[in-house]
Amino acid sequence: MNQQLLQIAKDFGSPVYVYDSEKIIFQYNRLTSAFKSVKNLKLNYAVKALSNISILKLFNTLGSGLDTVSIQEVKLGLTAGFKPEDIIYTPNGVSLEEIESAAQLGVQINIDNLSILEQFGTKHPNTPVCIRINPHVMAGGNTNISVGHIDSKFGISIHQIPHLLRIVENTNMTINGIHMHTGSDILDIEVFLYASEILFETAKQFKNLDFIDFGSGFKVPYKEGDIETNIEELGEKLSKQFNLFCKEYGKELTLAFEPGKFLVSEAGVFLAKVNVVKQTTSTVFAQIDSGLNHLIRPMLYGSQHEILNISNPNGRDRFYSVVGYICETDTFANNRRIPEITEGDILCFKNAGAYCYSMSSNYNSRYRPAEVLLHKGEAHLIRQRENFEDILKNQVELNF
Ligand SMILES: Cc1ncc(COP(=O)(O)O)c(C=O)c1O
Repeated sequence: MNQQLLQIAKDFGSPVYVYDSEKIIFQYNRLTSAFKSVKNLKLNYAVKALSNISILKLFNTLGSGLDTVSIQEVKLGLTAGFKPEDIIYTPNGVSLEEIESAAQLGVQINIDNLSILEQFGTKHPNTPVCIRINPHVMAGGNTNISVGHIDSKFGISIHQIPHLLRIVENTNMTINGIHMHTGSDILDIEVFLYASEILFETAKQFKNLDFIDFGSGFKVPYKEGDIETNIEELGEKLSKQFNLFCKEYGKELTLAFEPGKFLVSEAGVFLAKVNVVKQTTSTVFAQIDSGLNHLIRPMLYGSQHEILNISNPNGRDRFYSVVGYICETDTFANNRRIPEITEGDILCFKNAGAYCYSMSSNYNSRYRPAEVLLHKGEAHLIRQRENFEDILKNQVELNF
């Protein structure tokens, strides 16, 4: 594998994102089989995690749906060949106009505040709507990605259900789905099951449901021996709860999830070249040809991506702080043990499939990297590296 990655860095240049379709398919099938006892299961891949159109097309071949959060993601999904009914649109804080545009495209609308629910229901009583509930559960690996607690901006509070029901009655709209997403990197499946019970209790108050969407937030391992959400155990327990609920409800509902990280995080690596090895009085820095403009997760969430020196995998371990070339502190690893690094070596950052390229920017007027998909043993370029024209593309130059 290392040789293949080195060859990709040589052929396509660095830095470069590389994704493995086999791993994506493996994770998709793993999740599906964990919930095999549920009759109607729908996995809606969370586009935000990795939104390259070739990745979306790959998910389409698997029978996946899509979870989208912006009208642009909806359009990307449709362009990738998804049917509108296989796309759920879950925005937060967007205008009524944007929601109406998405509804016109025929996708499933998911609304997370009472103001828009009332406005939308009044104007479009015949468009069924899903509602995003805030179950007031603290879950997630970092405060920025804990979104189901009482102070969160997401979802409609479970305590506001009576108000919500009055809106539904007054507007004559139909609620066909109920949804929650409490956070990312949820380790404890008990938290998940507890939040699900709250969702079932809420669901009983709606008579026309077709599906219940449990969001996502599964934690994936970041290094060997790392703990992860026990999907198989969650599948067994939640399926049981869900099937019981359906019996009580009197209808075979669809159980939906919208995983991002679980499906693509481990499938991706980020390759960057070491420009400079800099010894200071206290530290040895390995400075790569990248920075927070390409991979911001360590700075934003404190995520610790495993870093391999694929140019010298059997070298003697030494301590390095791996940093970028950006004009502010962009530390990927602090005094980390890595096989001896020489300038020109290629470092491989693991877990680079989710929220890496999709959060990249042109900060410092740098180009965004290329993306490559390894599929059936072959490396395919699925996004070109940007160039100087891209930097200037939308700028309007005044001549003084
Ligand atoms: C509404 C919603 N659904 C799904 C996801 C995907 O979460 P994850 O990548 O943890 O699976 C997110 C992530 O932010 C989200 O906000």
